[in-house]
Amino acid sequence: MMNPRKLSAATRSDLCGQCHGVSRRDFSRQSESNFLTMGCGFRPGNSLVDSDSLILVKADPESRASEEFKVWDGPQNRMAGFSWPDGEVRVSGREFNGLVESPCYQRGELGCVSCHSMHEKNETRRDDWRDDQLKPEMHGNRACTQCHSDVEKHGPAHTHHLHGSPGTECLNCHMPHTVYGLLKTIRSHRISSPSASVSVNTGRPNACNLCHLDKTLEWTADHLSDWFGHAVPELSANQRTISAALLDLLSGDAAQRAIQASAFGSDQAQKVSGTDWMPPALMIGLGDPYDAVRLISERSLRTIPEWSQFEVDVIGPPEIRAGIIGAAMGRLEKTLTGVPRPAVLFDENPRFNTNGAVELIQRRENRDVMLLE
Ligand code: HEC
Ligand code: HEC
Ligand code: HEC
Ligand code: HEC
Ligand code: HEC
Repeated sequence: MMNPRKLSAATRSDLCGQCHGVSRRDFSRQSESNFLTMGCGFRPGNSLVDSDSLILVKADPESRASEEFKVWDGPQNRMAGFSWPDGEVRVSGREFNGLVESPCYQRGELGCVSCHSMHEKNETRRDDWRDDQLKPEMHGNRACTQCHSDVEKHGPAHTHHLHGSPGTECLNCHMPHTVYGLLKTIRSHRISSPSASVSVNTGRPNACNLCHLDKTLEWTADHLSDWFGHAVPELSANQRTISAALLDLLSGDAAQRAIQASAFGSDQAQKVSGTDWMPPALMIGLGDPYDAVRLISERSLRTIPEWSQFEVDVIGPPEIRAGIIGAAMGRLEKTLTGVPRPAVLFDENPRFNTNGAVELIQRRENRDVMLLE
């Protein structure tokens, strides 16, 4: 028996990682059968990273290619079920893999219980705590400023947003919602900074475009260049002219589509991006071949006041759904107002540019995606 309080920050997080991490058992029949006959090899107090149970998706490029990791129950490489192409974890329940790839863990003492607490003594806080087991104030900047205490340094001069804006919240830029699980998105637990090149190279949305849903990747790249001196990556014509979020929602793979459909329902993103242009995009989400994308699109659509009563059976027969979506699209065409916004496919009149949307859908990445949440 062991008291976690007496462990170092790293071995304490290992306790969580034995469940909240990518396990070797997820990949190899041999490990699965070892587990079934001998139990978990990890003991509290030992190092999980050095044990045989955990897989560091990113640090392990060789094993990623090895036979052991290729499929043991399906036609695709299981690693893609867990991670973005650069190895960053993209499914929930694997927070430990994100943590250990963070500079604050590698060069500091960041651990799960820096922000979470497994016990809440204060009864008045308990309802709030129950949801995500965060310590007091850890929903906000305290999560970072508890260590990065030079508040001046990370104030408006750093964030380039007005005081009190959601664009000044550390978590929104450094732990964005790029992880999928349980029909929603959650914050990535790898502490990273927004980068347009990473979006180009991995397809992972950056924090800026997950809130500024109506802006292009070029817009973000230009601001990151002005504000932080980042190099502007080479961008395709669509990345320069179409909103990054919309581009993913129409052309991205199923994981990208689910993540964007969820971002469309974010209150903060809706405030800064406006919602008048969203319904046609979310209608397309409602016609998605993946149940999960349809369900999340419906949920996001219903957060827009005029659509709060909209009903469609997202897992029922496709013909019935198509009828309801078609009728809603027809109604929409008549009620659109506002100015043309080509980045979100709103023409002059304004009218939703259906042809433009169809072209993007035809370019969609249709490979099978199985996320192993
Ligand atoms: C023995 C396995 C196991 C260990 C060890 C473990 N967890 Fe969990 N944890 C789970 C499971 C399973 C769930 C999902 C429970 C559910 O949804 O009912 C969960 C859920 C959570 C949640 C989300 C709660 C919510 O309602 O969304 C947080 C936060 C969490 N764990 C943090 C931790 C931290 C921090 C540690 C280490 C101090 C830890 N866990 C250790 C298995 C574990
Ligand atoms: C820097 C602070 C921080 C650290 C360190 C941290 N978390 Fe979290 N965690 C958060 C925040 C913030 C959320 C989001 C809560 C929300 O949005 O309701 C969260 C959410 C979660 C969730 C719930 C996801 C969901 O919404 O269903 C789990 C599970 C979780 N963390 C586990 C862990 C584990 C395990 C570790 C260590 C490997 C860890 N966290 C380390 C801040 C942190
Ligand atoms: C437990 C303390 C701790 C917490 C909490 C913490 N960090 Fe860190 N962080 C560090 C340490 C230590 C470093 C390494 C600094 C160095 O090497 O100079 C670091 C490094 C970083 C870096 C990389 C700096 C660089 O120059 O490469 C970023 C970005 C960062 N932290 C952001 C955050 C954000 C955002 C949060 C909140 C989500 C956070 N940190 C929470 C301790 C922490
Ligand atoms: C609007 C987005 C945004 C917000 C909000 C934000 N950051 Fe950053 N942060 C960045 C970007 C972009 C970088 C990368 C800079 C680079 O590449 O040189 C960065 C870099 C950092 C670094 C590493 C370099 C340095 O300046 O020390 C730390 C630490 C950091 N941020 C902490 C924080 C903390 C703490 C908060 C909240 C108080 C915060 N950030 C809020 C965008 C943001
Ligand atoms: C969680 C939401 C959120 C995130 C993340 C965010 N912003 Fe903002 N941004 C806002 C809001 C809200 C405003 C409105 C003015 C304000 O609050 O400062 C804004 C205003 C702006 C503006 C000025 C107005 C305009 O439309 O030209 C620019 C430029 C901008 N953000 C760029 C960025 C960049 C670049 C990033 C990533 C480094 C980013 N934002 C991340 C919410 C966000």
